[in-house]
Amino acid sequence: MKLWTATVKDWKVDFPMELAIKNEAASLFSNETLSLEYFAKTTQLSSSDSQVALGKQLFNDSNLSTSKSISCATCHIEQLAFTDGISKPIGLTRNSPTLTYSAYQQGFFYDKRAGSLEGQIVSVINNSNEFHSDLKSFTKAIETDSSYVNQFKTAYNVTINQQTVRKAIADYVRSLNEWDSKWDKNIRGEQNDLTASEINGFNLFNGKAKCATCHFAPLFNGTVPPDYMDTEMEHLGVPESPVVSKGRIDPDLGRYDVFKIKNRKHFFKTPTIRNIELTAPYMHNGVYQTLEEVVDFYNRGGGYGIGIIDQEYQTLPTEPLNLTQDEMNDIINFMKTLTDSRFID
Ligand code: HEC
Ligand code: HEC
Repeated sequence: MKLWTATVKDWKVDFPMELAIKNEAASLFSNETLSLEYFAKTTQLSSSDSQVALGKQLFNDSNLSTSKSISCATCHIEQLAFTDGISKPIGLTRNSPTLTYSAYQQGFFYDKRAGSLEGQIVSVINNSNEFHSDLKSFTKAIETDSSYVNQFKTAYNVTINQQTVRKAIADYVRSLNEWDSKWDKNIRGEQNDLTASEINGFNLFNGKAKCATCHFAPLFNGTVPPDYMDTEMEHLGVPESPVVSKGRIDPDLGRYDVFKIKNRKHFFKTPTIRNIELTAPYMHNGVYQTLEEVVDFYNRGGGYGIGIIDQEYQTLPTEPLNLTQDEMNDIINFMKTLTDSRFID
């Protein structure tokens, strides 16, 4: 990629457009690689310090909910890579996902029912178990605070309205990607301290364990390179409780509930494994407390391997992976290199 960008410069190539991978990207593992504009479907995004600071304040402000006790940060706690450490928040049916790197997806929520971050935010504000509000009252609560009025003016030079409120929060969520994990720094050649186990874990992730057939580098989520036009959903057969035999499938029908298409029952979006060390419990229902349990589930062949008979639509290969204990540890050690440095003190 370095040679490519040097050649582009040398030959003074002028591209008429830019797609997901920026024209000047010199590495796949960098903040400069993927265009946030592409994912937000806009030509220019705003992300000045004052804009991000405003979004951050809204994100953390519990005065904006009807009960005055809930903010986005209630379930998306920064120190936990914007998750909450519990299987499911009270009143909700799914596990809180990380918001880091979430901007780089073509669909939001585990069932991809929202097509944009802005759309996803409306849905949260309306939910009776979340803000129990509506965008109009939410916006009103912001408008009545004069410091917000000034901040919107300074940061965006706009007045407060439903559009600008949604955008301010979305701009903050789009800023939560650091690309400075141990893994990124090593791949970029800024550091050379990966252990043999971590390297072997990466090779297993991409090879024998087949993880990379769904969790695609560099995001390690289901957004498919190289055009990044789709974020894939899969049927793993995730159980309702963490058993290793006689499993029962989790009753959440996932994608099926959005359009009622029969062969989409139990399909869930492939999430990123960046910052995974901090985001337990795992899966849409938070069924697994540890990464050891997650890897063990895959090693047994997913839901089919733990006795969930209904394997008709399982998209995860149903044969066991035959990973040794050391190999499973190596994969976990690799995944732990994907923690952004802001979360490591
Ligand atoms: C009561 C807990 C709770 C609150 C409050 C909350 N969220 Fe969430 N959030 C969740 C859960 C649970 C999901 C997953 C729901 C699903 O997939 O159906 C989620 C999903 C998301 C997603 C989708 C991520 C992805 O990768 O698909 C984003 C973005 C998000 N929340 C941002 C926010 C913002 C911004 C706010 C404040 C306006 C907020 N959340 C408030 C619990 C919460
Ligand atoms: C067939 C596609 C597929 C394969 C192969 C796959 N995954 Fe996943 N992975 C998913 C999907 C889909 C989910 C979300 C499932 C859910 O929530 O019900 C997921 C969830 C996870 C989670 C939990 C994420 C979270 O935030 O809760 C981890 C960790 C993980 N996978 C690691 C791996 C590892 C390690 C491998 C290889 C051993 C692997 N995956 C192979 C599709 C896949």
